[in-house]
Amino acid sequence: MYGLLRALLFRLDPERAHHVAVGSLARLSATSVGRRMLHAGFGARVEAPAQVLGLTFPNRIGLAAGFDKDATAWRGFAAMGFGHVEVGTITPLGQPGNPKPRVFRLPEDRAVINRMGFPGEGMAFAAARLQGPKPPGLVLGVNFGKNKDTPLEDAAADYLAVMNELAQYADYLVVNVSSPNTPGLRKLQTGARLEALLQALVARRDVLRAELGTGAGPLPLLVKLAPDLSDADLDDALEAIDHAGIDGIIATNTTLDRAGLRSPAKRESGGLSGAPLSERATRVVGEIYRRTGGKRPIIAVGGIMDVDDALRKIDAGAALVQIYTGLIYGGPGLVGRVARGLADSDV
Ligand SMILES: Cc1cc2nc3c(=O)[nH]c(=O)nc-3n(C[C@H](O)[C@H](O)[C@H](O)COP(=O)(O)O)c2cc1C
Repeated sequence: MYGLLRALLFRLDPERAHHVAVGSLARLSATSVGRRMLHAGFGARVEAPAQVLGLTFPNRIGLAAGFDKDATAWRGFAAMGFGHVEVGTITPLGQPGNPKPRVFRLPEDRAVINRMGFPGEGMAFAAARLQGPKPPGLVLGVNFGKNKDTPLEDAAADYLAVMNELAQYADYLVVNVSSPNTPGLRKLQTGARLEALLQALVARRDVLRAELGTGAGPLPLLVKLAPDLSDADLDDALEAIDHAGIDGIIATNTTLDRAGLRSPAKRESGGLSGAPLSERATRVVGEIYRRTGGKRPIIAVGGIMDVDDALRKIDAGAALVQIYTGLIYGGPGLVGRVARGLADSDV
């Protein structure tokens, strides 16, 4: 079924195809009739609850950040069977992102290169889309970042602003310091800069949690890391994460590496995702698990194109997985297959 749809979508420019898909999903999920159609089309969500980060996830698969940047279609993705959906990256103010074209398919490699640069409508727009009831059981993550024009010295104020605005809607929060497409952002991933940023965010999260009261959940705060950190930088980042008391880690974002690619679009600058990232991301998950002694839950993302890829991430130490590029190449059916595969491996 998805083969035909994919053939049509792949005729469009990648970013246009993305907007068509997400826009259709957003429109369908906006009405109860549309939601019933989505449920009928996608089938029931695989129910295989997992306790992670103090939350109950209905199953172990989630939608990675960047697909639903402006939080317009998350209810539709929930209908697709995802146990969790991570919206964002959301910035304080709306911004255009990098000039187009900025997303490229690499079909021979089952990969994508993007240099989006956090285009989006900003946090007030997202807040309006996050209001209202959540699909039963869905765990909603909010991934946030800084505006391009904000100097690195002032980055903390941007992260705090989005957290203040959106924490009330989130089940978990993700600090994105690993996108390769916002100049300088990855400099926040190590050393004193990271520790200061994370300490400020954890302190604020604690205040927000208290303000939100007993009805609110544990509101875990996670950091999303790049797959391109040297061993020393990874240690450095993990030390800051440990000192600040961050709850969990998302590994990984896209890579700057281009080894072994065949598609002509490999020359494009930006972050690479999909099949060629799989092994590297799994290795990073394994390293983080080993270096943290399994103390902090890891959400693994990067090159999960089938059930076996997802199982390898769990074997490396992940508690949950997310997909992005796999959804483009494999279609919505991948969600249920991975959820089922991971559920079966639990017994
Ligand atoms: C077009 C595109 C946009 C993305 N935007 C974001 C983003 O805004 N924030 C983020 O944390 N990750 C973003 N990502 C990274 C994904 O969340 C994920 O970490 C990465 O693509 C690896 O997973 P995959 O191989 O399953 O795609 C983006 C990826 C793609 C392909």
